[in-house]
Amino acid sequence: KRGGSDEEKRRAGEAAAEAVDDGQVVGLGTGSTAAHAIRALGRAVDSGLDIEGVPTSYQSRALAREVGVPLTTLDDATPDIAIDGADQVADGNLIKGGGAAHTREKLVDAAADRLLIVADESKLTDRLSAPVPVEVLPDAREPVATHVRDLGGDPELRDAERKDGPVVTDNGNLVLDCAFGQIDEPAGLAADLSALPGVLEHGLFVDLADAIYVGTDDGATVREP
Ligand code: A5P
Repeated sequence: KRGGSDEEKRRAGEAAAEAVDDGQVVGLGTGSTAAHAIRALGRAVDSGLDIEGVPTSYQSRALAREVGVPLTTLDDATPDIAIDGADQVADGNLIKGGGAAHTREKLVDAAADRLLIVADESKLTDRLSAPVPVEVLPDAREPVATHVRDLGGDPELRDAERKDGPVVTDNGNLVLDCAFGQIDEPAGLAADLSALPGVLEHGLFVDLADAIYVGTDDGATVREP
């Protein structure tokens, strides 16, 4: 588990799940905080809520199936709302991809009419500064690493914890965690990274979030960037 307390994550996830209305298609984010929202949605479905979920990863798909949230795909439906976690949040801009799921997360989150981010207080910061996860085609690892250094970053291939060798994403690619220090212009860096050949997607989410649900000691607060 990354970040702050699981109780704060639970309160954020459950509060965001309550914003989902009957009949909606819901993007299902990845990570331990979004998982609380998926479990809450499963309980709501048990009580009669009629929704369909679009998962953002193997993990969120498996959990949704376990708790009984019916699933659909972007081929068949457009999410009305998405609920997703984040690794760092500053002024509504995010760094995601701590679980290497940011490519499908960005696809689903950007397709949704509204994106609710769920986080504990430890994720909030004034300026983004965490390493930016960049999903690359396996063949693109070295060329992209060179370009990232030219952009002032320090790329590191993400290693798997319980496997020899690197993390392989749900899409069969590799992840470079690229440290840039404090990121003063997230939109500019996002555009630079997106332009590199061989980059599938990076974890900078600029101006995508509509609301940030922050779990606290005794509830959740909602911030609108
Ligand atoms: C997955 O790749 C990430 O983008 C997650 O959304 C992010 O890491 C949040 O995870 P936690 O809720 O477990 O902190």
